[in-house]
Amino acid sequence: MSGLIQSSIARKVVMALSGLFLVFFLGQHFTINITSVIAPDTFNTWSHFMGYNPLVQYVLQPILIAGVIVHFVMGFVLEVQNNKARTVKYAKFQGSANAPWISRNMILTGAVVLAFLGLHMYDFWVHEMAYKYIEAKPEDPTRYYAETVEKFAPIWRVVLYVISFALLSLHLLHGFASSFQTMGVNNKYSGGIKLFTKIFAIAIPLGFVFIAVYHHLNPITH
Ligand code: HEM
Repeated sequence: MSGLIQSSIARKVVMALSGLFLVFFLGQHFTINITSVIAPDTFNTWSHFMGYNPLVQYVLQPILIAGVIVHFVMGFVLEVQNNKARTVKYAKFQGSANAPWISRNMILTGAVVLAFLGLHMYDFWVHEMAYKYIEAKPEDPTRYYAETVEKFAPIWRVVLYVISFALLSLHLLHGFASSFQTMGVNNKYSGGIKLFTKIFAIAIPLGFVFIAVYHHLNPITH
């Protein structure tokens, strides 16, 4: 039994570290994307840099993909393990049998975010790969803004994105805060850190909602 708990804690640490890495990516991704609303030229410049810089393409992008896979696979393993040993889970991690809805449904909100990522990769990344490697079109540092705005023309995509961002917010509300708990952060800054994670979990997804809705309402007229 103690072996089970120990390995379960090791998996929680892997979840926490990979989750924190993905949160960092999300902050960076939001920072670049918000420029599509306030400074389209900057958005073009940064998107082009991210799309063609070898360090980003061949080092950071594979690390990001690995981070997503590790987080997803470990999350799934933890869920299966917790279901098998529910009393251990509640005694160890929740402190009560009445874990709040959000923490009990991390696998559900995580699965929706993963499904969103599938659509999102199809929308942007597959298009990028085709542009660069299949159609082998020349570099055009000015195309990203128009391509992004056009993606949000159909209302169905905006609705799917907004639903996903809402569930992403729920996922982060529990996950971001609990990652610090898992890492054993317990000092005079703990209260401030927890507040920061809650603000981030609400503000960043809301910001993504704003970007999607803004581009839907402000199409490019040729
Ligand atoms: C309105 C919201 C969003 C917009 C406009 C947006 C836009 C983009 C764009 C333009 C790319 C570039 C693809 C490329 O050049 O390779 C991209 C990639 C990506 N996005 Fe988003 N995104 C949004 C929200 C999100 C969210 C909420 C997540 C995570 C939950 C996410 C995860 C990713 C990932 C993992 C990539 C692949 C990065 C890579 O190419 O290495 N995005 N997104």
